[in-house]
Amino acid sequence: MNDQPDSAVVEMLVELACRAPSVHNSQPWRWVLSEHGLDLFTDRTRLLGAIDPTERQMVLSCGAALDHLCTAAAAFRWTADVETMPTADAPDHLARIRLTHDAHPRSHEFDLLAAINRRHSDRRAFGPVPDNRIPTRYFGRVDGADDIRTTFLSAESKETLATASRLSASIRKYDASYQAEIRWWAGHSFRSGGIPPEALTDRAEASRVQVGRDFPEPHRVGGTETREPVTDESTVVLLGTASDERLDWLQCGRAMSAFLLAATADGLATCPLTHMTEQSGSRRLVESLAPGRGVPQVLVRIGAPMIGSPLAPTPRRTVSSVLSVAARSAARGSRRTTPL
Ligand SMILES: Cc1cc2nc3c(=O)[nH]c(=O)nc-3n(C[C@H](O)[C@H](O)[C@H](O)COP(=O)(O)O)c2cc1C
Repeated sequence: MNDQPDSAVVEMLVELACRAPSVHNSQPWRWVLSEHGLDLFTDRTRLLGAIDPTERQMVLSCGAALDHLCTAAAAFRWTADVETMPTADAPDHLARIRLTHDAHPRSHEFDLLAAINRRHSDRRAFGPVPDNRIPTRYFGRVDGADDIRTTFLSAESKETLATASRLSASIRKYDASYQAEIRWWAGHSFRSGGIPPEALTDRAEASRVQVGRDFPEPHRVGGTETREPVTDESTVVLLGTASDERLDWLQCGRAMSAFLLAATADGLATCPLTHMTEQSGSRRLVESLAPGRGVPQVLVRIGAPMIGSPLAPTPRRTVSSVLSVAARSAARGSRRTTPL
């Protein structure tokens, strides 16, 4: 890697990358800095085995972190050249990033950088997307995003999505492994991961959003004071892929991140949704809403934030626990990694 950034810059970029959304805030990623570049791996110790047995959402989450890293790098004048799945037979090695200090950021890139820290998954009801504008500029910023099919679902689709949502909840209700996993990751205090109670909604608020995941009701609820009973008028966007392979998931995660950051920069509230794409029955219902628009991977709810208080940021693992430096051992030419 020529002209490579020093470790303080890499540390800062990784910290921003780790603000990315991840399934239940599991943050299933690992970064390794070496003379070849910055490598992104999945962290299997953070896999949600019951919720995500195929690893699809783990890889989607890593794709989001990858896009966050590239977005942050661009604002600091680093061009990120990304090689996806760079090592044959190493499915956990998702990307190698080489950084060159030659980018010329435009003002929008600074807006996206600011959006990294402003974006939250908001599970409350939203107002409609102002002027019903279809924000096509949200797409196409990511290499490979051409393969991601994005569909803005009609308001009438909400009924079918609500059915898919209920179907998913009813199947999960008696799935003990799923229930144990979701109760571990959501709704209690956890210093460096999981979804804190403040980020969840109580039953009354959750019932307004008929397409949300059924989370355990939090003991403590923050920021849910409603002025008026409101109906959710969000728009739901479906991201689908041509096939259903690991690379599709990675690219879809990148596109999802690009979408979320652009929407956040525009002042919209967002929330990714995957419970409807986890099981075949509900996934088929989602697919029926957008025939020919690919394999449904993730839905994103977007709209105008309606309720006053902003959400507190969810916690993250420390950079030193996710980033290490690979040092070549002179004696054997082998590689060992040490935390930064
Ligand atoms: C692949 C993926 C799947 C997700 N699925 C859901 C979901 O089904 N329902 C939901 O409310 N949030 C979902 N989220 C949002 C995460 O819970 C959220 O990103 C995480 O708790 C961190 O919080 P933050 O997004 O506010 O930073 C998902 C995020 C990702 C990346």
